[in-house]
Amino acid sequence: MNAKPIGVFDSGYGGLTILEEFRRKLPQYDYLYLGDNARTPYGSRSFELVNQFTLEAVRYLFGQGCRLIILACNTASAKALRNIQQQYLPSLEYNCRVLGVLRPTVEALGSLTKSGHVGLVGTQGTIQSGSYPIEIQKLFPDIHLESEACPMWVPLVENGEHESPGASYFVKQHLDRLFQRDPLIDTLILGCTHYPLLINQIRKHSPPGLQIVVQGKLVAESLSDYLQRHPEIEELCSKGRSCRYLTTEAEEKFEEMASIFSHTSIRVEQVHLNPL
Ligand code: DGL
Repeated sequence: MNAKPIGVFDSGYGGLTILEEFRRKLPQYDYLYLGDNARTPYGSRSFELVNQFTLEAVRYLFGQGCRLIILACNTASAKALRNIQQQYLPSLEYNCRVLGVLRPTVEALGSLTKSGHVGLVGTQGTIQSGSYPIEIQKLFPDIHLESEACPMWVPLVENGEHESPGASYFVKQHLDRLFQRDPLIDTLILGCTHYPLLINQIRKHSPPGLQIVVQGKLVAESLSDYLQRHPEIEELCSKGRSCRYLTTEAEEKFEEMASIFSHTSIRVEQVHLNPL
């Protein structure tokens, strides 16, 4: 079969921060980005809905020919990836893979934390899923993880308010709670692809010397490594250095907002996902 783009999926714009690192690290490939902006945010939705929406998106990208898809969204990775890998992929007749962002993030922790105390900030869905503690327990059972759900952070970013006094207030509020619960935290995972936009506020309200784990580069390194180890998947990925963007919302809104998340100018096409 003909090689096709690598699919990159997020509930909205956040995955653009991951895609940008893919294109920097692995510019030779073609990429197809899909943002489910019409139904974002996923962070406050039930397991059932995140599963359903993510599966609809994955089916759409497979329908476009993608054979490798990255869920560039922590909430979808935390709540839907296992289900897709275990229930859905085995039912397909062709060779294909869906990967997430949690594992590459957790793998990096071992070389970062000295105190063994790690903080995690993410959406309600990611924190409630318990997926990060499960992954950390598998690789680093001695790490103590303290988690904080930050439901206001995504709406602040989505509304372009990430440098505002309001953002400063809510970032401080959640980080204060986290560091009060565990003052020994020396490493903080930004477990949401929107949060790199809040990095200035996060630095301002964090203790000096804190290591902040931003996912983009880690996930890109991990993808590069994966493609080297899996030539049978790599040969299914086309190499034309292109990138197409799809959204389930209005095109004008995506193009305006995407400039906050990405340094390239973006033309997007609206698509409709078939319900399950
Ligand atoms: N991009 C999503 C994540 O990384 C957050 C946005 C949402 O709640 O849909 O978790």
